[in-house]
Amino acid sequence: MKPTDTPKTYRVKSFGCQMNVYDGERMGELLEAKGITPAAEGEDADLVVLNTCHIREKATEKVYSDIGRIRKSGRQHGKDPMIAVAGCVAQAEGEEIMKRSPGVGMVVGPQAYHRLGDMVDRAARGERTTDTDMPENAKFDALPARRRVSPTSFLTVQEGCDKFCTYCVVPYTRGAEISRPYSDLVEEAKKLVDAGAREITLLGQNVNAWSGEDDKGRTVGLERLIHALADLPDLKRIRYTTSHPNDMTDALIAAHGEVDKLMPYLHLPVQSGSDRVLKAMNRSHTAESYLKLLDRFREVRPDIALSGDFIVGFPGETDAEFEDTLRIVDAVRYASAFSFKYSPRPGTPAASMDDQIPLEVMDERLQRLQAALGRDQLAFNEASVGKTCDVLIERKGRRPGQMLGKSPWLQSVFFDADLQIGDMVRAELVQAGPSSLQGRVLESVSA
Ligand code: 5AD
Ligand code: SF4
Repeated sequence: MKPTDTPKTYRVKSFGCQMNVYDGERMGELLEAKGITPAAEGEDADLVVLNTCHIREKATEKVYSDIGRIRKSGRQHGKDPMIAVAGCVAQAEGEEIMKRSPGVGMVVGPQAYHRLGDMVDRAARGERTTDTDMPENAKFDALPARRRVSPTSFLTVQEGCDKFCTYCVVPYTRGAEISRPYSDLVEEAKKLVDAGAREITLLGQNVNAWSGEDDKGRTVGLERLIHALADLPDLKRIRYTTSHPNDMTDALIAAHGEVDKLMPYLHLPVQSGSDRVLKAMNRSHTAESYLKLLDRFREVRPDIALSGDFIVGFPGETDAEFEDTLRIVDAVRYASAFSFKYSPRPGTPAASMDDQIPLEVMDERLQRLQAALGRDQLAFNEASVGKTCDVLIERKGRRPGQMLGKSPWLQSVFFDADLQIGDMVRAELVQAGPSSLQGRVLESVSA
């Protein structure tokens, strides 16, 4: 097929954060509403959407090599697939991609993808289009209704970021903080649940900064939305991610003690344990204020599983400052965490700071940090052995007959049992590994 035919099949490849997973699902729904169907596994699609991430290393090079690979595979099978570049790399480098890659027919930013259908029509006429506008909330109103839903679904409630941490590209690629309206979100959640969602994760770059007007016209925060969703009888579990320490409210903390359906898990990035580094990062919290915040969560929900993000090797980070990060890890005992080497992002203040840290130093620090985090994750899992909890089955495991679900604390739990995706089972956690547990089904719980 020539690139100027209307595509019949599509594939969306999403990279990076859960927000991209959500956007990718919605782009899929939009293409399906146009009669374009998902390509079968292992088959070349007529239209490939690369839903890109710009947050860390080599994002742009990766996009170019993906484009090359898709075109090569297409040629081998007598196709010239239509290629759309979406996501944060599209937003940041769209013009450049259009110039350098004649095979790309569309560049569409994260706030503009509701126009993808129209762009596909234009590409079928041989036109190449770029759309990186950032109209507030416009895409959500223009997208078709939710159709493809898994038992564990995402719901984007807030987008963008005004925090401008000095290392981070998100405020530039995702734009200013905006909250979607309360009533739209309750409606979308109802549709997700009607379509089979049993767990909803509320998403936002600063999800705990969400605010809106409830059905009584009151200005409310995320906890109110959580309460409203908890009233949906068929919804069993609620989560939210990612939060910023500075936006945490008393009411949201209290919700962890009040709402049973709100899972005992909190992802609260700290990035560094050194106050000097935190200041240079423009994080506007200290190690101590962060620890105090966590104590308050533990007060209302003693079993809460804590998770965080870390960056090692921020410009100027000394050995002693890195030791402060290890100290905060020791103090918190995270159940899980994500840790990264600092990567200069073009256009961010930190990229032009003096004293960039050599790669070998970053490597060594990352190894030490990950050893500490791994130790704590294993300890958390081991402490769970013998507990009984509900597990929501999400997917097949790697071994035949194996199924995988999540515990309330977001641990992966494997079963060798005849289970279906979407089942909720009461299980005993019988054995712990570094990143998962083995479970034994006690009984099925209605989900
Ligand atoms: N370099 C390394 N890690 C980064 N993150 C964000 N920007 C950078 C960067 N320039 C990490 C932070 C953030 C997570 C999503 O990605 O830890 O919380
Ligand atoms: Fe990036 Fe900081 Fe905003 Fe998180 S809070 S998205 S790290 S600028």
